[in-house]
Amino acid sequence: MSLVQVNTEGGVYPIHIAAGRLNALAQSIPASTTAIAIVTNPTVDGLYGDQVRRALEESGKRVLTIMLPDGEEHKSWSTLNVIFDRLLAERLDRKALIVALGGGVIGDMAGFAAACFMRGVRFLQVPTTLLSQVDSSVGGKTAINHPLGKNMIGAFYQPVAVEIDTTVLNSLPGREISAGLAEVIKYGMIYDSQFFDWCGANMPALRQLNAPALAYAIQRSCEVKAEVVSQDERESGLRAILNFGHTFGHAIESGLGYGQWLHGEAVGCGMIMAAELSALVCGLPPAHVHAIRELVIASGCPSVPPAWSADKWLELMQVDKKTEGGQLRFVLLPHMGKAVVQTVEASAVREVLRRFESSTQE
Ligand SMILES: NC(=O)c1ccc[n+]([C@@H]2O[C@H](COP(=O)([O-])OP(=O)(O)OC[C@H]3O[C@@H](n4cnc5c(N)ncnc54)[C@H](O)[C@@H]3O)[C@@H](O)[C@H]2O)c1
Ligand SMILES: [Zn+2]
Repeated sequence: MSLVQVNTEGGVYPIHIAAGRLNALAQSIPASTTAIAIVTNPTVDGLYGDQVRRALEESGKRVLTIMLPDGEEHKSWSTLNVIFDRLLAERLDRKALIVALGGGVIGDMAGFAAACFMRGVRFLQVPTTLLSQVDSSVGGKTAINHPLGKNMIGAFYQPVAVEIDTTVLNSLPGREISAGLAEVIKYGMIYDSQFFDWCGANMPALRQLNAPALAYAIQRSCEVKAEVVSQDERESGLRAILNFGHTFGHAIESGLGYGQWLHGEAVGCGMIMAAELSALVCGLPPAHVHAIRELVIASGCPSVPPAWSADKWLELMQVDKKTEGGQLRFVLLPHMGKAVVQTVEASAVREVLRRFESSTQE
């Protein structure tokens, strides 16, 4: 088993990564816990619900399951209320433990519910998608969507532990694996060029769900995220580098309509575009741009952006959360393994978009 420690002001906690970890969940239940509420959805419950209930019942505590509908469209106030209704109806108290069993949607909702219920109860992250194992379950961001914006209502709230069972990825569709791999290779690009090279050498093994390769990729991703978040829990600076590729990626997601491309797919393509922009405005060598494109393609994510006018791209990117006073801000790579956040002239963005326009017409 590997262990990664997260150190934030909001909490110090372990991430345990191992095959079969679901069977050992009882070890992570605080002794004072009065009752355990598993928050999950029918898809994940059908696959792992019984196994997780059995493991948690070993603690001798009362265990109940709160079932939410599956899908990003349900990451909303009304679904959040389903959690509160049940917690109150079952008379759970401040010593209750909420267990988030599922992907990032479940993790974000269960985490936010834990932050609010009784002004805060403990919660355990049990992420079951690759994206949630390497990204959303670590660092304490929780949120729901508002009709006027994604992830707009939320809280920083750290779990008591993150329990990652690598074997659950065997049931995950290949597209979801590729989307998770986009965030994995992102960590190499922004923080660790050796890890980027390792991903290049091991991408076929990762896509075939080779267990040791996956375990290492998840561990290194969690380490990088933990290091970044430990330095900047509330995103006043450094944490923003985790958004590499996301300004273009979010434009793709919202321009096509959420759900057309998976988040990770849009980020994969967005990282190629951000690499081109980095070459233009801060000197990323062309060989590195090429390597980034090749690795995104090898991960199984799309590499050709939608063919929109530059005006449409710029309009979509204006609403990005990094935008300050109308100025476009991007995460850029001066070289592989190093990221900076800086404002970029619209003319430079237009130049990059023009290059992609000609590439899609070839
Ligand atoms: N809090 C953060 O820091 C953070 C970071 C990144 C993303 N997010 C959020 O995460 C969400 C996306 O998460 P996601 O990509 O995990 O999507 P998801 O939670 O929707 O899961 C994808 C699909 O896979 C299913 N599934 C989950 N585990 C499975 C398994 N082991 N086998 C088979 N199917 C399984 C789910 O039921 C769902 O249908 C978004 O809402 C995003 O905003 C949050
Ligand atoms: Zn992301």
